[in-house]
Order: sequence, then C-alpha cells, then structure tokens
Amino acid sequence: MQLSVKVSRFDPDTDSEPRLEPWTVEVEEGARILNVLDAIHSLDPTLSYRSSCRAGQCGSCAVKVNGEPVLACTEEAADGMVIEPLDLPVIKDLMTDLVSGISSIPRINTCDCGIIPKQEDIERIKPLRDCIECLSCVSVCPAMKVTDFLGPTSMRSQMRIALDPREPGNRVREAISQGLFTCTSCNRCWRVCPKNIETPGKAIEKLREIANREGLTLPRHQEVSNLVKTTGRSVESGKYAFLDLVDEVIEPYGEVKGEVGFFSGCMFNARLPERALDMLEVMRNAGIRVIISKEQVCCGSPLIRTGQTSFLDELKEKNIRAFQDRGIKIVMTMCAGCGATLKNDYDTPFKVMDVSEVLTCFGLPPLTKVPVTATYHDPCHLKNGQQITKEPREILEKAVERFVEMPAQCCGSGGGVRSGMPDVAAALGELRREAINKTGADIVVTICPFCEYHIQEHSDRPVKNLMTVLVQALGKEPASLQ
Ligand code: FES
Repeated sequence: MQLSVKVSRFDPDTDSEPRLEPWTVEVEEGARILNVLDAIHSLDPTLSYRSSCRAGQCGSCAVKVNGEPVLACTEEAADGMVIEPLDLPVIKDLMTDLVSGISSIPRINTCDCGIIPKQEDIERIKPLRDCIECLSCVSVCPAMKVTDFLGPTSMRSQMRIALDPREPGNRVREAISQGLFTCTSCNRCWRVCPKNIETPGKAIEKLREIANREGLTLPRHQEVSNLVKTTGRSVESGKYAFLDLVDEVIEPYGEVKGEVGFFSGCMFNARLPERALDMLEVMRNAGIRVIISKEQVCCGSPLIRTGQTSFLDELKEKNIRAFQDRGIKIVMTMCAGCGATLKNDYDTPFKVMDVSEVLTCFGLPPLTKVPVTATYHDPCHLKNGQQITKEPREILEKAVERFVEMPAQCCGSGGGVRSGMPDVAAALGELRREAINKTGADIVVTICPFCEYHIQEHSDRPVKNLMTVLVQALGKEPASLQ
C-alpha cells in the first residue's frame, strides 16, 4: 500500500529549527511506523531514527505520531501521519537524547545479606517492573517542564526499589528531594506508557503513603486531611453550600427520560455551587431526574493523591451507601477528580458517569448557539483519568458559535500541587495562559472545578463551566448567589 506521511527533519549543525518533510512510500499491508521509516531511509539514508529489538521491548524507537508518543515498531502506520521526535532534546531528526533521562533513573543497591524476595514481593513489584525506558512518560510530564522533578519513571523505580526487600536503604526522602510532591497526578505518563504502567497510582501515590507513615506529608496536605476527618469535606464552606440549597429530588420540566444520582464533590458543594445549580437547570431541560443524596461526603481524592489513606475506607463506605440505599443505578459526577476517583479507586455497585457522558447518552435539550468563540481545556482527570475527550467537545460545539482547539496540558492544580507546591502550580498555570492566548478564543470552557478555579487565576479570558455555557445556550441566566 502507498502511504503519505510527514517526518520531522532537524540537523543541529545546519538547521535553526525542525521542518516537516513530506514522503510517499510503498509498504506492506499492516506495516508499522518503523517500516515506513525504513522505507524512507532506503530513499534517503540521512534520516536518523533509532530501533533495536523491533518487538516493543527495548524502547529505543519511541517517537511522537500525530502528537502522541508511540513505539514505532508496534504502532500500525496510517496515511497522513505526522512523525516527530519525542519532546526531549533532539540529536538529529527523530533521535532524541535518552542518556541523561535514563542515567538519572534510580537503581537498586542490593544488600549482601542473603535476602531472597518472596513470591508476594515479586508479585507486588511486577506492575512496576515492565518499564522499557523509552522515556515517553518523561517527554509528556508537565511537572518536568517547570521544575527539576526527576520524572515519572524515576518515581516508578523508587517505588519498585521500596518494595524490594534486598534494598537496604529507605528511599522516600530521596524521592521527596527528587520532586515526589511536584507530580500533579495528571496521569498523562500512564496513558502514554507503551507498557501501561500506572505510575501515578502504583508508584507516586504509594511513595506518598510511605512518606505519610514517616510523618513527611506536606503540612498543607495534612490540613486538608484534618478538614476531611472533622467535616467530611476537603474545602470549607463559603456562604452557600449546594447540598443545603437543593431538594433531594429534582424533577425535569417535561417527560422523564432518565434518572441519575448526583455526586456533587467538595468544590461544587462549597466553592462553586452556582455551577452545580446550572447543571440542574440543564438536567431539568434535558428530561433527567436528579437525586441528590445529602449523606454524601468527600470522595477522598485529595487524600489518595497525597498518600493520606488511613480513613479512606470510611469515606468510600458512606458514599456508596448514600446512593446504593436509594437504589440509584447511575451516579453522575461533574467534578473530573471525583469522577476519576469513583471510577478508578472505588468498587461501586452502581455505574459512574461524567455529566458529559450523561448528556450524550440521554440527549441535549434544544440549544441556541451562544455568539462566542470558545476553546476547551481538557481536565486531566477527565482526559487521562476517565479517557473522556469527545463528549465535552461535541456538546460545546453545539452550544457556541465557534469552537477552537487548544492542545491539552495539565493546568497544575491537581495532585495536591496547588495547595502544597503553589509555585509549581502557578508556573503550569502560566503555560496555560500562553496556550489560551494563542487560540484567540473569547472564553475558556472546562468542567473540572479545580481547573476552573486555577485557570481563572492564570487566564486573560473568562473561564466558564460547560454547564454554565449550556444554560446560556438554553436562553437562560446562569445561577447567581450574590
Ligand atoms: Fe525496541 Fe521498538 S525497536 S521497542
């Protein structure tokens, strides 16, 4: 078959910046990206790229295809692909400098003490041992862009070492000095990992748990934990709390097309209750009955992300009972962080759906496009935590006159970074400001309350919740509690 692709070319000796070079090559049906590069190389031997095992095991061939890191030897080639190097220092064309990244990965110092890891140790280590050091995770890590964080695979290695009984030392202080608390839990490293290693959940949060047991949790994170323990909530209530303002059952205006329970989350309950009221207005118009259990508490996300899990099970039990006791089949979340937590960290007897999934499933009410140009910020806990990107865009495109894309990137508010490492969060927020300004949009739309709160501090344009835009597209006034 014939494929036309574009390949990034860059020679630091002669070029000031990379350029995309078009190529059309003949390859076999089912060819991999590496076969395409081989075909180009046979026509132009100056093309530089790496490969070794050609079987997804050495990690040397990682490149970026259409903006996403992949292994060139395992990813199927497609017409129109844009092949670029990973976002790492480029040596030439598609070859990046892997040496500094790989040499900084901490290695185990096995003791000469005759300890043999038990089968259960080996099983616990397994999920962290598959790394092929392709550095795809390092190339996308937001914290590494603004700090000297050693990166996801280094934290993976530190946790792998922590689980190995042959390691004589305790590395958690070292991991902290290498930036353990600068990770925003964006999960991007997990999503791009060709070996599907869940570094945030299986390494970073577990190292933070060890830090917690050793009294090394950041003071600001401890305050949040104390607040959850004493009030059931991770943020203090402002003048109004959503759960105090609403009835338990909100009926739609017309025919009932569906029914969901609503998990409000701490931020929409206490800091941004207007957004949750906007959501109720959208649901009333969409024919969806909303049941709001008043017994619900914090989902525990701020505790899990910061390694403070000693009373997590109590929160989980309360939340599950709050909806299960009412026979609710679908629990809807509007906060991306709560949604990701209920989906990934709970074992729920009900289905959990983001508000954008609910509206896509049951259908939107008739809308009139709001005369603005809007861009969309992907909340990490929605994009990477729940793999939801399509639904919010489709909804937004129906609600505004013009939609413009913006490359996804963590805003810096997650993983306890906004509270515990505000400088890091602010630096990432400023990167969002630049990206937003480049779009030329009038407004930035998102769903996550943490993103909304944080980006608003780092944006020259108004930041709106998708539900607020929908209320406007219904011809109504967004909720106001002033
Ligand atoms: Fe070894 Fe692709 S060549 S992983």
